[in-house]
Amino acid sequence: MKKILAISAIFFMAVFGFNYANAAAKYVGATKCKVCHMSEKSGKAYPIWEKSAHAKAYATLATQEALEIGKKMGIENPQKSDKCLVCHVTGFTADKALKDTTLSLAEGVSCEACHGPGSDYKAMSIMKDRAKAVAAGLLIPTEKTCLTCHNEKSPTYKPFKFAEMNKLIAHPIPKAAPVPTTK
Ligand code: HEC
Ligand code: HEC
Ligand code: HEC
Ligand code: HEC
Repeated sequence: MKKILAISAIFFMAVFGFNYANAAAKYVGATKCKVCHMSEKSGKAYPIWEKSAHAKAYATLATQEALEIGKKMGIENPQKSDKCLVCHVTGFTADKALKDTTLSLAEGVSCEACHGPGSDYKAMSIMKDRAKAVAAGLLIPTEKTCLTCHNEKSPTYKPFKFAEMNKLIAHPIPKAAPVPTTK
C-alpha cells in the first residue's frame, strides 16, 4: 500500500509538474510591451523596433523580390507559406494555443521572437526583477537567438556578423544619472 501511495505520489507530481511546465507562456504581441517600453528612460525599445527591418519582416514577404524568390521555389504566396513565415513572423512554430489573439502576423519579427513569449513576465511586479522575469520565461537574447533565423536556410542569406548586426538593433536602457550627493 505504501508503495502504491509512493508511486501515485510520484505519478501525480510528474503529471502536475508536467502540466505546470506545459501551462506555458503565451505570445501576446508587441502592443502589450509598448505601454512600458516607449519612453527615453526605458530605452525606447518599442519605437526603435518599430522602425527596424524586423517590424517589416511580414510586409517584406509581399514585395516583388519575395514573390520572385517564392516563384523559384514553387511558392505562390510567401505570406501564406510555412517556408517563409517561419523566420518572418514571431513564434511561428509555437502551438496555436500559445498565441494570444493580440499577436499578429503583421508585426513580423517582434519583441517576443527574441525575448520569449511574454504573458507570464509582462506584469510590472515581475518585469522589475530580472530573476523573476527570467523564471517566467523572459529570454536575454544572445547570438544564438539571432542564428535561428540568420542562417543559410534564408534564401537571401548574408553572412551574419553578430557585433555589427546587434548594433543596428540596439535598444539599451540608458544608465541612470548618478544620484547627486550633498556632501
Ligand atoms: C507593465 C509594464 C511593462 C510591460 C507591459 C512590459 N515591460 Fe518589460 N520591463 C518593464 C520594467 C519596469 C523593466 C525594468 C527596467 C529597468 O531595469 O530599468 C522591464 C525590463 C524589460 C527587459 C530587460 C530585462 C533585463 O533585466 O535585462 C526586457 C528584455 C523586457 N522588459 C521586455 C519586455 C517585453 C518583450 C514585453 C512584452 C511582452 C514587456 N517587456 C512588457 C516594464 C514592462
Ligand atoms: C525570428 C527570426 C529572426 C530572429 C530571431 C532575428 N532576426 Fe534579424 N531579421 C530577420 C528577418 C526576417 C529580417 C529581414 C527583415 C526584412 O527585411 O523584412 C531580419 C533583418 C535583420 C537586420 C536588418 C538587416 C538589413 O540588412 O537591413 C538586422 C540588423 C538584424 N536582423 C539583426 C538581428 C539580430 C542582432 C538578432 C539577434 C539579437 C536577430 N536579428 C534575430 C529575422 C530574425
Ligand atoms: C531561415 C530563416 C528564413 C527563411 C526560411 C526565410 N527568410 Fe527571408 N530573410 C531572413 C533573414 C534573416 C533576412 C535578412 C537578410 C538575410 O540575411 O537573409 C531575410 C530577408 C528577406 C528579404 C529581404 C531581402 C534582403 O536581402 O534583405 C526577402 C524579400 C525575403 N527574406 C524573402 C523570403 C521568402 C520569399 C522566403 C520563403 C521562400 C523567406 N524569405 C524565407 C530569414 C529567412
Ligand atoms: C531581434 C531581436 C530583438 C528584438 C526583436 C527585440 N529585442 Fe530587446 N534585446 C535584444 C538584445 C540582443 C538585447 C541585449 C541583451 C543583453 O543584455 O545582452 C535586448 C535588450 C532589451 C532590453 C534591456 C536593455 C538593457 O539595457 O538592459 C529591453 C528592455 C528590451 N530588449 C525590450 C524589448 C522590447 C520591448 C522589444 C519589442 C518592442 C524588443 N526588446 C525587441 C534583442 C531583441
